[in-house]
Amino acid sequence: MSHFEELRGKIQSKQARVGIVGLGYVGLPLAVEFAQAGFTVTGIDIDAAKVDALNRGESYIQDVPTAVLAPLVKAGKITATTDFAVVAGLDTINICVPTPLRKTKDPDMSYIVSSCQEIAQYFHPGVLVILESTTYPGTTNELMLPMFEKPGLKVGEDFFLCFSPERVDPGNAKFQTKNIPKVVGGITPACTDIGAAFYGQALETVVPVSSTRVAEMVKLLENTFRMINIGLVNEVAMLCDRMGINVWEVIDAAATKPFGFMPFYPGPGLGGHCIPIDPFYLSWKTKQAGIEARFIELAGYINGNMPHFVVDKIQNALNDHAKALKGSRVHVLGVAYKREIDDVRESPALDIIHLLDKRGATVTYSDPFVPELRADGVVPAMSSIDAERGSAAADCAVIVTDHKSFDYLRILDSAQLVVDTRNALKGHSSSKIVRL
Ligand SMILES: NC(=O)c1ccc[n+]([C@@H]2O[C@H](COP(=O)([O-])OP(=O)(O)OC[C@H]3O[C@@H](n4cnc5c(N)ncnc54)[C@H](O)[C@@H]3O)[C@@H](O)[C@H]2O)c1
Repeated sequence: MSHFEELRGKIQSKQARVGIVGLGYVGLPLAVEFAQAGFTVTGIDIDAAKVDALNRGESYIQDVPTAVLAPLVKAGKITATTDFAVVAGLDTINICVPTPLRKTKDPDMSYIVSSCQEIAQYFHPGVLVILESTTYPGTTNELMLPMFEKPGLKVGEDFFLCFSPERVDPGNAKFQTKNIPKVVGGITPACTDIGAAFYGQALETVVPVSSTRVAEMVKLLENTFRMINIGLVNEVAMLCDRMGINVWEVIDAAATKPFGFMPFYPGPGLGGHCIPIDPFYLSWKTKQAGIEARFIELAGYINGNMPHFVVDKIQNALNDHAKALKGSRVHVLGVAYKREIDDVRESPALDIIHLLDKRGATVTYSDPFVPELRADGVVPAMSSIDAERGSAAADCAVIVTDHKSFDYLRILDSAQLVVDTRNALKGHSSSKIVRL
């Protein structure tokens, strides 16, 4: 029997031993889906605290309730380890490690390289490896394939290698790992077939594509599309601001067009570790091919400027009330990078706090999902305080993240001035409100 037939049989009978490398926002939900589908899953992470928590059945990811994880751990369907030696006994390995950008906006491939080096030590025939980390087109075949392909180990025959972009949207109650269609592309058609068969056992919809490069590019197109459209609408917001037009009303009216328009909304800047970062993977790669991705650079510039625009708005609003920003107290409502989540990575709120601090304001904040902000060289260590009390004590409250649990009317009532970067006070009119 060929390796292909043997592995496909194991996948179809759910006897394949599944490994997930990197147990974060992407890896843990994926591990849970495969365990729920009936597979035995081994998670591998270099973070011993995460491994220990998982083995105790405790979730550390908001979208994975402990009530879901604990029974799977108890039943032996999921275990975790820091030891890559378990790779020797695995049939499939999904790699979900971080892919940040360096300060120079170059891709940092070190997490992929180091996890693949570990996997290579215990590599064996018949295994399926799928990279899920977001990356530039070419990573799977240029960087990973040479680490695994050896004389006697031929891709598509002796082992299988795919890329499958992760599209998880933390905090999204409607679309989660199971019901978000999964794109997968392999180095060879056999790789794609086996990758598609694998995901088909646990996820609702699988979308096979012809190559790893197409699959890699799909993710970058999706995130670049969002980044550029957000950049466009942020620019429109600044233009409308200059002309005294309410941009929110413009967008709502434009969105009544039943075709050819999709609403995007302005805001305080991009956050998270996908939309602000992933398009730069593409621009980095295209530069090597001698083509500049000019839309990406422009949208990056406009979006990166939004925290400055917001702080200027706060400063102007205070000036209109005969106050200076320096020496004023500003209360920031929401520091997570988007509503209903606890993630502050790349959050524009951090830039806004930093700029306010630099310009001499005293800053406090409220966020029901983020009780503490750790000092990181940009923002000082701070604790969340009550939203209404914080707003009442401040010269200006600024809505940066529109969490549902804030009582916006009471905030408006208690504050002297509210700069609303999210249109959270839609439908309310008050001389206290300054909209983006
Ligand atoms: N979080 C999202 O919303 C999201 C959505 C789509 C795609 N992605 C992409 O998925 C990838 C993972 O993102 P994430 O948000 O899950 O990151 P994360 O930081 O939450 O998790 C990554 C995990 O990998 C572990 N890790 C790091 N190096 C390792 C190594 N050498 N071996 C084993 N484990 C290692 C870390 O300890 C961490 O637990 C990134 O490429 C990201 O861009 C993330």
